[in-house]
Amino acid sequence: MSNRQIHVINTPDEMHRWATNAIGRVGLVPTMGALHEGHLSLARESVTACENTVATIFVNPTQFAPDEDFEKYSRTLESDLNQLDAIGVDVAFVPSVEMIYPSGEEITIQQPDVAYRWEGASRPSHFPGVCTVVEKLFRIIPADVAFFGQKDFQQTRVIMALVQQLEMPIDVQVCPIVREASGLAMSSRNQYLSDSGRDLASCIYRVLCEARAAAQVPSAGPKAIALDAERKLKDAGISKIDYVAVVDPDSLEPLDEWQPPSIMVVAAYVGSTRLIDNMFLTP
Ligand code: PAJ
Repeated sequence: MSNRQIHVINTPDEMHRWATNAIGRVGLVPTMGALHEGHLSLARESVTACENTVATIFVNPTQFAPDEDFEKYSRTLESDLNQLDAIGVDVAFVPSVEMIYPSGEEITIQQPDVAYRWEGASRPSHFPGVCTVVEKLFRIIPADVAFFGQKDFQQTRVIMALVQQLEMPIDVQVCPIVREASGLAMSSRNQYLSDSGRDLASCIYRVLCEARAAAQVPSAGPKAIALDAERKLKDAGISKIDYVAVVDPDSLEPLDEWQPPSIMVVAAYVGSTRLIDNMFLTP
């Protein structure tokens, strides 16, 4: 017998009823499970800010391309539930794929403009899948606040645009990136890295910090700083780089001139593992 307090809900109907009847603010933390400290920091934030917290655990098939890791994505439900329970999350919504996508022919949400660059260019089906599932989750769970991580910076912008354009009455809060001691941003995909891969991956954080320091005394423009960061990653041994850019945090358009705030976004492969990271730069 489990002595967990957390209530596990599997059906959208029951989830909707629970959230509608909850007294006080409802905080929502959408996840794909395989929880680590990054996810838990969002849940803690919600537990602190809201009387009720719902975390969702759903590995969303529509945001994975056919050649991506949907099948092999880590599923650790028991440990996820224990961790959420320990920090006082009230409900874990754990639907099946059939519950979220009951019919074969799906209405998909068109992605907003801010989705097309960077992650959207490298993974064209990713954000349409994210938008489709997040819109469903927001309808199933009429929450007051939803918590997302800056780790997936573009995703936060995409979701903010979605909420604004669909006029959804939900406040989107962005929480800071939680990192390993080495500086490597925590990610469910870090477990695919070998020991030497982890060492190599930590240089992404180092290069971001160096870019931040360089931006503070800006003798070079944002494009030169981005090129320099790319060269440093390559010199360190990260040969496959999807993008390194300094962009406007609202539009995600690359910057020619410094503006406060600017943000550096990076996507690169360590072995076959694709990692993303970002850091605000204050010129
Ligand atoms: P997932 O990758 O499980 O991440 C769930 C949430 O945790 C996201 O908001 C993500 O930005 C945040 N997160 C991940 N690593 C973090 C870290 N190191 N520090 C802070 N926050 C971190 O993002 C998704 O799932 C999905 O796309 C989802 C929004 C659930 C839709 O399916």
